[in-house]
Amino acid sequence: MLKWIDNAVFYEIYPTSFYDSNGDGIGDLRGIAEKADYVKSLGVDAVWFNPFFKSPFKDGGYDVADYYEIDKRFGTMEDFEYMVKVFKEKGIKIILDLVIGHTSDKHKWFKKSTLAKKNKYYDYYVWTDDVNTSYPGAIRGLYYRNGGYVPNYYASQPALNYGFNQLDEKAPWKLHYKDERLRPLREEILNIMRFYFDKGIDGFRVDLAGHLIKEGQVFDYDKYYDDYDEKTDGIQWLWGQLLGTIRKEYKDKVFIAEWDIPQLAITKCGFDMDFLTHDTFYFGDLYRNEKDLNLSPYFERGDNYFSPNGKGTLDNFVHYVEYLYGKLGDKGMFTAPTGTHDEVRMSTRKSPDLIKCIFAFMLTLKQVPMIYYGDEIGIEHNYSVSKDGGGKRTGARTPMQWDNGKNRGFSTKKTTYLPTSDKVGQSVAEQEKDKNSILNVVRDLIKIKKWYPALKASSDQTFIEKGYPAVFERTDGKQTITVLINPSDTVINKKVDYSKVIYSQNTQFDKDNITLDKQSFAILLK
Ligand code: GLC
Ligand code: CA
Repeated sequence: MLKWIDNAVFYEIYPTSFYDSNGDGIGDLRGIAEKADYVKSLGVDAVWFNPFFKSPFKDGGYDVADYYEIDKRFGTMEDFEYMVKVFKEKGIKIILDLVIGHTSDKHKWFKKSTLAKKNKYYDYYVWTDDVNTSYPGAIRGLYYRNGGYVPNYYASQPALNYGFNQLDEKAPWKLHYKDERLRPLREEILNIMRFYFDKGIDGFRVDLAGHLIKEGQVFDYDKYYDDYDEKTDGIQWLWGQLLGTIRKEYKDKVFIAEWDIPQLAITKCGFDMDFLTHDTFYFGDLYRNEKDLNLSPYFERGDNYFSPNGKGTLDNFVHYVEYLYGKLGDKGMFTAPTGTHDEVRMSTRKSPDLIKCIFAFMLTLKQVPMIYYGDEIGIEHNYSVSKDGGGKRTGARTPMQWDNGKNRGFSTKKTTYLPTSDKVGQSVAEQEKDKNSILNVVRDLIKIKKWYPALKASSDQTFIEKGYPAVFERTDGKQTITVLINPSDTVINKKVDYSKVIYSQNTQFDKDNITLDKQSFAILLK
């Protein structure tokens, strides 16, 4: 495992919504730089930024029109360099979003590849060989080129061409991933990485990292415990090429896959980290699978563990992560983020004390924790907005709430790009004043995580109980920490051996008798 991630806490910022420095109603890079002290005050080590490259924003910037230009919405390349400098001075690492599964249809590579006449960009995208050739999802008839292109997500996101997992006699237009014609695109991608590494950044979160090879991805999430070997030789080869090359040139950089299959991304493809997010329904069991949140059927699996009704269980989740630890060894670690720009906000319909229980779990669990901006003050999901192609996801992308004033201190403009919530108490300024606020408890928990080596990602973990309360031990061989968490409304008594209470909420101690009130937790030194 990369040394610096072993004890790191990450933070995700959606640049459109962090802070507006020039009063146009939309967040920008100078604004983020202005808030670097706040980010530092949380105690996080690294920030992942959603894309801020030139884009028509048909998909929140995940439709890049030029990798080497900062979108006007956010500022200029100088502003980016300034932001990097400010963050570096404070010792915070910068992770950019590498969106290389597709570009925007406004990207010049794509425009050139649509032309009837063959040119340098002919094989950059996945095109069929005739406009009448049908292929699932292929968009036909829009351009002069005699063929249809295969998009990845929306029609305006043509897939870049890394080849197919296998040759297909009936479809000679499907290039094999090792075909020499695909080498120039890979060089192009390496150059983008080099460009930003040379500007001082510390890593990439790779969008759709597992979906670059066509007909070589795994969609069957019911088979979580498989190794997926047969179907994935293409993607393993591709990441071997890309990471094999770039890691020789740049050391200590972190590569985080957006894949949701850590055993594949880390063990087989060389990533340092991978997510357990929306597609990982064992993670959904924790606090995101309720029917009325209107998520996909994948998540409708019964009761959340982090719910006052006390009907959930950590069984599936723990079974899965223990399988993962075994597979990953010391090669890397997953991150189970508190949320992302693609998911319903974790705080939705939860009391502050319940939210703090989730943070206590996430910041002591064997993983690399990641906090989605605003979760540390309990911003709630807004179900009534959609912008930039976000759909329901937009509700997790509303502006950061800095204070109780106009636009919650996000912008001086009369109307902002997205509305801010008017919920009292959900702002940084209000929570700064209260030592028991979500914000200050998160800060305390991060300090604890960094202080005790037993809480490092590489330290061991044993689950003792998976119901209510959850009880688990973390140890680095020298010190052992016991964590007890009771998200339910039931009061529970427990006998536990410990020498010191490191931190607790809603818990009473009478020697080794511990009373866990509703929504409580205790972090104890053995
Ligand atoms: C990733 C991004 C998401 C985007 C999609 C397509 O899943 O997180 O926001 O829409 O890729 O690029
Ligand atoms: Ca602005």
